[in-house]
Amino acid sequence: MNTRFKAVIFDLDGVITDTARYHYLAWKRLADSVDAPFDEAFNEQLKGVDRMGSLDLILARAPRAWTPEEKLALADAKNRHYQELIATMTPDDLLPGALRALEEVRNAGLKIGLASVSKNAFTVLDRLGIRNRFDDVVDAATIRNSKPHPEIFLTAAAHLGVAPQDCLGVEDAAAGVASIKDAGMVAVGVGDPAVLYRADRVIPSMLHFRLADY
Ligand code: G6P
Ligand code: MG
Repeated sequence: MNTRFKAVIFDLDGVITDTARYHYLAWKRLADSVDAPFDEAFNEQLKGVDRMGSLDLILARAPRAWTPEEKLALADAKNRHYQELIATMTPDDLLPGALRALEEVRNAGLKIGLASVSKNAFTVLDRLGIRNRFDDVVDAATIRNSKPHPEIFLTAAAHLGVAPQDCLGVEDAAAGVASIKDAGMVAVGVGDPAVLYRADRVIPSMLHFRLADY
């Protein structure tokens, strides 16, 4: 396989597995409980954004202000609901094409990284049975800045020992594509080209991922 890249760094939620749907359901219930408007279009702004950052975006549209203690309780409630939803996941919950993509990258001799700001990423990887397929998983707890800041993709590249310009990043979120591009990498968007307009190429699903296209 001829490719100019030395590593591929994948996002998790919405790229490898459909946990983006579970985040949506958990945030929707939380938003309803505080009378904040919430729909799929607004949810796009939350994808790739960390838990407290997402909560702040939701509460900015709620009818009243919330104390820091109340915010922590709301974030915990959302996370408990999310953890209930992911508790039943199995390897069957890998998105179509995701495993084949990981295998293609591995067989081409490239390094594989994971860049997720989720504090539940290791749980999800274990439920899917794919943790050992990654050379490096950036621990969300060590990251100061959530996507769209480039820190998480730059950290993954540094851990893999690969220069950013030799990395391909794969993302389903506008914030994630911004993080990849501002890290100086080539970006693959998975989803809607109108949302992921900063990506170098957008594919409708991981079934369409081919290393040779980049
Ligand atoms: C990912 C998802 C976001 C989620 C964030 C934090 O980036 O795309 O929707 O808010 O992780 O997840 P956590 O599991 O830590 O609440
Ligand atoms: Mg994602």
